[in-house]
Amino acid sequence: MVGSILFRYKDVAIRKLQDLSERRMLSSLAEAGVDIDGKGISFKGKCYLYISHGSRVFIGDGFICNSGRFAIDNGGHSVISVGDGATLSIGAHSGMSNTSIQCREEIVIGDYVNIGAGCLIMDSDFHSKDWMVRRDRVLDRQSADKASVHIGNDVFVGARSIICKGVTIGERAIIAAGSVVVNDIPADCLAGGNPARVIRSLR
Ligand SMILES: CC(C)(COP(=O)(O)OP(=O)(O)OC[C@H]1O[C@@H](n2cnc3c(N)ncnc32)[C@H](O)[C@@H]1OP(=O)(O)O)[C@@H](O)C(=O)NCCC(=O)NCCS
Repeated sequence: MVGSILFRYKDVAIRKLQDLSERRMLSSLAEAGVDIDGKGISFKGKCYLYISHGSRVFIGDGFICNSGRFAIDNGGHSVISVGDGATLSIGAHSGMSNTSIQCREEIVIGDYVNIGAGCLIMDSDFHSKDWMVRRDRVLDRQSADKASVHIGNDVFVGARSIICKGVTIGERAIIAAGSVVVNDIPADCLAGGNPARVIRSLR
């Protein structure tokens, strides 16, 4: 990744940033003690940031996050949530709109990735598959399955798609709108549906 923005949790609660307008977002991140190195990074509309202790967030040059009225759907905001010890890496010149990124282990998004309006990308199930464990909120959270998500360079994720844990999407793939991706998708193909399957090659 050429150039990056690194958010590191310091003493100031990042949660306070959630209500800031886009124009104040980057300067306020700096005020909060976050290291900002990336160039041309833009947050338009509201993006809620939950960056936990010990997490690492890298965002490449030229990243664009459009939310609310700046996105094409009717969603109100984006979310970037990175849990304790988790790593989120977004490459250069990528963009997302009204998207929620929920990172509890590792999410790697390449360069020039377009993520359509209203998507959800998560590397955890957030709940146990065992109903008895789910009754205990703490245990439930701790025992949820997690697995890294990798989205290759130049991938285009259609609006309202859901990318689940453990998935790798190959470079230049297109995920059709409204897809639920639970299995790996190879490079250079159009995939879609629930569960998303390869529809045709793009080679
Ligand atoms: C993926 C997409 C770009 C494909 O467009 P296309 O090349 O014109 O594709 P086609 O309409 O020729 O469809 C090709 C096949 O994919 C299927 N397909 C297309 N979109 C699909 C979808 N969202 N879900 C499931 N299948 C889909 C079609 O039914 C067709 O299948 P068939 O060959 O069995 O008939 C388009 O359907 C799409 O999802 N656009 C949404 C763009 C978007 O979300 N932009 C982000 C805005 S923020």
